[in-house]
Amino acid sequence: MADKRRFELFADLVTRHFPGCRHAFDIAGGQGKLNAALTSRGLDVLTFDKRWKHDDVNYAQRLFTLDEPCGCDLLVGMHPDGATRVIVEYAAKHRRPFAIVPCCSDNGMSYKPWMRHLAELGQQLGLDVAEEALPMQGRARVLVGKPRD
Ligand SMILES: C[S@@+](CC[C@H](N)C(=O)[O-])C[C@H]1O[C@@H](n2cnc3c(N)ncnc32)[C@H](O)[C@@H]1O
Repeated sequence: MADKRRFELFADLVTRHFPGCRHAFDIAGGQGKLNAALTSRGLDVLTFDKRWKHDDVNYAQRLFTLDEPCGCDLLVGMHPDGATRVIVEYAAKHRRPFAIVPCCSDNGMSYKPWMRHLAELGQQLGLDVAEEALPMQGRARVLVGKPRD
């Protein structure tokens, strides 16, 4: 069972790392709880996911792909499952920063190799990627990527 505080904890981390960002894409945002937590901290957020039932937040009811036009200055993803890789690739393509809390891999890798793989992917694509952790149980490690100068 994922920690219910994860959205508030992650929103705090995001605003600490990216105080200048105003427009976030929240990828694989489920019901929109992270969107609400970031919106309450002053960001303009659009959530991408395919759920019919979701909270009253800005919501694009579709899967996020590399073809999505770029209307953000930051990408975030909490436990984004199959969308994790595309967040890193999209951030590199548009030279935007990202913060993600990965969980399941899209290729059968277990957690630690998957985290390493994502960090290496970001580095190969021209991003500096650092890792930290949210103070919670479960999948709590965060990858923070920033376009290299
Ligand atoms: C484990 S749930 C996490 C939901 C939410 N972020 C949370 O922490 O409760 C993973 C979500 O990823 C969504 N998802 C997977 N691939 C996606 C994609 N390409 N674009 C948007 N959402 C995607 C699924 O629909 C699902 O809601």
